[in-house]
Amino acid sequence: MSRLATLPRRLALLRPLRRTTCTARSYSTASEQRLDNRVKIVEVGPRDGLQNEKNIVPLATKIELIERLAKTGLQTIEAGSFVAPKWVPQMANSSEILSHILTTPPPSPHPLTYSFLAPNMKGLSNAFSILDANPSSFSTESNPSPSKPSLEMAVFASATETFSQKNLNASIAASLEAFRAVISAAKETPYNLRVRGYISVVLGCPFEGYDVSPHRVAEIATGLLEMGVDEIALGDTTGMGTAPRTKDLLNCLRSAGIRNEDVAMHFHDTYGQALVNTAVALEHGIRTFDASVSGLGGCPYSPGATGNVATEDMVYFMESLGMDAGVDLDGVAEVGEWISKELGRGNGSTVGRAVLGRRKRKQE
Ligand code: HMG
Ligand code: MG
Repeated sequence: MSRLATLPRRLALLRPLRRTTCTARSYSTASEQRLDNRVKIVEVGPRDGLQNEKNIVPLATKIELIERLAKTGLQTIEAGSFVAPKWVPQMANSSEILSHILTTPPPSPHPLTYSFLAPNMKGLSNAFSILDANPSSFSTESNPSPSKPSLEMAVFASATETFSQKNLNASIAASLEAFRAVISAAKETPYNLRVRGYISVVLGCPFEGYDVSPHRVAEIATGLLEMGVDEIALGDTTGMGTAPRTKDLLNCLRSAGIRNEDVAMHFHDTYGQALVNTAVALEHGIRTFDASVSGLGGCPYSPGATGNVATEDMVYFMESLGMDAGVDLDGVAEVGEWISKELGRGNGSTVGRAVLGRRKRKQE
């Protein structure tokens, strides 16, 4: 029997193991979750949005972007990336960004979580050195403090071997081994950080096309959950995802025993399908969605992939469905217009342009 054919059985065997080895967390049941109209939007603009900018964005602009976003009601902001500067020069000042967040927490209506990528122990050590210099400036799971920012580290696997080599210079298996150490160190005392596990190119790869196996995605996701990540973020890095393929992927994850509560969707709008796919995921029971202000972004190692779905579009879409993201649409639209001007480009959000246009017409 082929490896894939035996996978559901092997994943089923893993389920009891996971329940016994993972830290206990309380979750709503699936039926409770269906009744719940709250959604969480994870703002990825300051990292995923800016990482692809050709010109180096000044540190002050990055910090101002984070501070402006923090005021809009967003709960989580992905703020930087501790990757090799040779690979992504734009993220080279992530230490300064983390340091600023800890020493001068951006004013916000409620406590915020700031997320940073780290692909290996070198990246995590760089982040730790900032935390060590500011030991009591962040909230931890063992010592929660609503007045201090919470932190999250994110590792990022790939669903295809070619993308893994291009993005991480490692096979999927080797990258997962590197992440095991990162995840366990991040979760250890005194840091006790939350950890997110991305899987990129889950619905299409710039190098291997549509040939991405949902079973492989489920296997990688299960592996990351077994290592202790708190959340899996499924990245449609190329925007090649369609409604039926999104549904198939989520059904496959469900069959593998992965709970909706543990999954976030990260859609790109390259082919205009991001909100259609979001509707499919919502219907499936997913309640966490990534988005990037003004639709900024793309992955430097994913040629042709345009921006992430815009936060403004996501907030408007959720509101139109009666879902509550707790985000001020006008506020995010203003931030989107501001950062677009700072970067010298057009506003990438259809909704942002419409909201600001309507306001302007009212004022005239
Ligand atoms: P490598 O070249 O194999 O690494 O890259 P290495 O271990 O051989 O080290 C090479 C040099 O980098 C050494 O320096 C290391 O010290 C240094 P040298 O001795 O030459 O001066 N180095 C580091 N420096 C700072 N921080 C580090 C670090 N690691 C090594 N963490 C590596 C392997 C993983 C480092 C590299 O491939 C890398 O950084 N890749 C990151 C690529 C990236 O950031 N891609 C974008 C994020 S993924 C994404 O955008 C998709 C996502 O958003 C989902 C979606 O949108 O769908 C998540
Ligand atoms: Mg992205």
